[in-house]
Amino acid sequence: MSQIKELERRRTFLESLARCGREAFVDRFYERFLASSPEVRAKFAGTDFGRQRLMLLRSLELIAAAADGDEAGLDELRARAETHSRGRLDIRPALYEPWLESAIAAAAETDPRWSTDVETAWRSVLGAAVRYMSQRYDR
Ligand code: HEM
Repeated sequence: MSQIKELERRRTFLESLARCGREAFVDRFYERFLASSPEVRAKFAGTDFGRQRLMLLRSLELIAAAADGDEAGLDELRARAETHSRGRLDIRPALYEPWLESAIAAAAETDPRWSTDVETAWRSVLGAAVRYMSQRYDR
């Protein structure tokens, strides 16, 4: 894909994220993600959701920065891949799919200007991050 197209997708994603309304988006996301499996619920059994809610929004912004090739964003994504790997939080690659689908569903419900182009942008930006995190599970 051309670099311009990628930058446009990143911008479309960030504009959509801004329209989602942080509270509503995060609520919908965790509702869906926690409902997706007992394994996901078990992972968050001891989690302080006040903190975790902010973490989700920060994660999405960092993914957008990394998608743009921003060095600090890439470093942080690398560090997140490390904390989520087998030896640490042990997030199996299969859990990234419900994560991605929960984010897309929450955005579709809360972005008043949701469209197929916007969805393509979300799938492209988040898909790359999810593949990256999954591939580093065993490292
Ligand atoms: C691209 C996808 C993801 C990103 C960017 C991301 C990002 C983060 C960040 C920034 C933190 C806090 C700092 C840290 O511990 O590393 C975190 C914690 C955590 N994440 Fe993720 N995450 C992703 C996917 C997932 C998935 C699929 C799961 C599956 C259950 C998950 C489970 C957790 C858990 C259990 C914690 C620790 C919560 C606690 O402090 O109690 N994450 N994540």
